[in-house]
Formats: sequence, C-alpha cells, structure tokens
Amino acid sequence: MNTTRTTTIRPGLATRAPGTEHERGDAMTAVLDIHELHRTFGSGHTAVTALDEVTLSVARGELVAIMGPSGCGKSTLLTLAGGLDEPTRGRVLVEGHDLAEQRADARAELRRRTIGYVFQELNLLPGLTAAENVSLPLELDRMRLREARRAAHAVLEEVGLTEHADRFPEDLSGGEQQRVAIARALVGDRRLLLADEPTGALDSVAGEGVLRLLRRACDERGAACVLVTHDAAQAAWADRIVFLRDGRVVDHAGAATVSLGGGR
Ligand SMILES: Nc1ncnc2c1ncn2[C@@H]1O[C@H](COP(=O)(O)OP(=O)(O)OP(=O)(O)O)[C@@H](O)[C@H]1O
Ligand SMILES: [Mg+2]
Repeated sequence: MNTTRTTTIRPGLATRAPGTEHERGDAMTAVLDIHELHRTFGSGHTAVTALDEVTLSVARGELVAIMGPSGCGKSTLLTLAGGLDEPTRGRVLVEGHDLAEQRADARAELRRRTIGYVFQELNLLPGLTAAENVSLPLELDRMRLREARRAAHAVLEEVGLTEHADRFPEDLSGGEQQRVAIARALVGDRRLLLADEPTGALDSVAGEGVLRLLRRACDERGAACVLVTHDAAQAAWADRIVFLRDGRVVDHAGAATVSLGGGR
C-alpha cells in the first residue's frame, strides 16, 4: 500500500484541505439521515429491541465511528442504513431519499450505486479474481465489461493492489482481501460507505491500512462513512464517535476524546 500519499492525515485530527471537491460542494448535506430509528426483532415476551429511537446524521466527507458493547445494535444500525433490513419505526434517508418510500427496484439501484458495504466476513466470491470481485457490482449494473474492469483496476490501484488484481481471494492475505472488499465498496464512486468491523481479522498494522483507506475515501472523494469498531485507536480516525448501549445513543464524542470516553 502506498502510505506516502496519506502521511498528512493523522488519527484524531481528521483534517481536510480546504477547497477539496466535497467541501466546495454541499458539505453540509447529509448523505445519511437517520430519524428515530427503532428495530424490534420477534414479538411478545421474546421480543428484542435492537435499536431504540436512534437519530444520526452523516455529512459528505465525514467519518463517524459507532462503538458499544456486543449486542448493542451496531450491525442492526448499519444494515438499516444500507437498506438491507427495514425498521419497525423511524426513517432512513440516503442522499435525501427515504428508503421506505422507494420502490424495491429503486432501492436496489440506490444500494448498488450509492452505498458501499464492507461486511466483517468480506463476502468475496472465491471463484472470481480480485479485479472480477471489484467489477462485479458495475457489471450487475449493466456497465460494459471493459469499462467495468477499467474502473475496478483504478480502484485496486487506489488501495495498493494493482499487482494482485488477477489473484483469487485465497491467494491473498487477510489484509489484502480486506482491501479488495473496500475496493468493491468504493467502485463506481459510491458515496455512502458502511463498514462493519472491517478490520476484525487483521493485525494492527493491516487494520490501520484499512482505516487509512476509509479516511482517504472521505477526504478525497467526499464519501460519508460509518465505521463500526471496538477499537479506540481506530475510532480515533473518525471525525465523531457515537456510543450505543442497549440500542440507544448514549454519548457523542469528538475523536480526540475517545481514549478518555471509552466505548465498551
Ligand atoms: N435477526 C435477528 N433476530 C433476533 N434478534 C436479533 C437479530 N439480529 C440481531 N438481533 C439482536 O439484536 C441485538 C443487536 O444485535 P446487533 O447484531 O446489532 O449487535 P452488535 O452491536 O452488532 O453486536 P456485535 O458487537 O456482537 O456484533 C442483539 O441482542 C441481537 O441478539
Ligand atoms: Mg455486529
């Protein structure tokens, strides 16, 4: 990975050069707007409230970390934000579109074009090379094959994997696979990145590399990113940290205070 290009970006500071593309544009427009979101699983005495009136807004260029103990609702929040699940109550707007008001095909298109999801378990397809994994969302979106592959190679270059583009996932290290998953989430210029513990299986050096990529996607492309993490050092890369407990937002903090605030 090319680290020299990112040396100006430090955890906890999250500085952005003035006049970058996303700041000239509608920097204050929320890419993700979540209003009083509630999600209950099951019913009756076995009902579990996974999210309870959560309100959260993420602007262009902003990286927000979500922290909290296991079972507090972090993954539920991300799947609802990505339109992969439906809330019991409340609203999710992505670039101003209310997911609940969209027809299934429009929502599917929004998921394909606007939202990039990095799952903890990666979900790379083992029978496809790195480049094919990355270009797949574009091909599914009916982009011409050659164009899709060109876009995939450009993003793989961004994540420092040009030389591994033709390797299959099993021939890549965990960190490299993770970078392929991030490339797949970025390709096609998707503007909302949802990353659920994307560094779970990585050592701290590889994990930091992944954080650097997410930070850069926010700073250079104006992506909005929501990162679920258990690791305070990783949350320090965020602009803001939101602490969840029992499905509720219990605290907000600037990244610089994370080591004092704790999140687990
Ligand atoms: N499909 C489901 N059916 C029933 N309960 C569920 C379902 N999905 C999640 N839950 C429950 O909702 C709560 C929140 O789960 P969630 O996966 O969002 O937690 P999390 O904060 O991501 O935890 P972890 O850090 O362990 O990944 C938990 O109590 C969980 O058991
Ligand atoms: Mg989870």
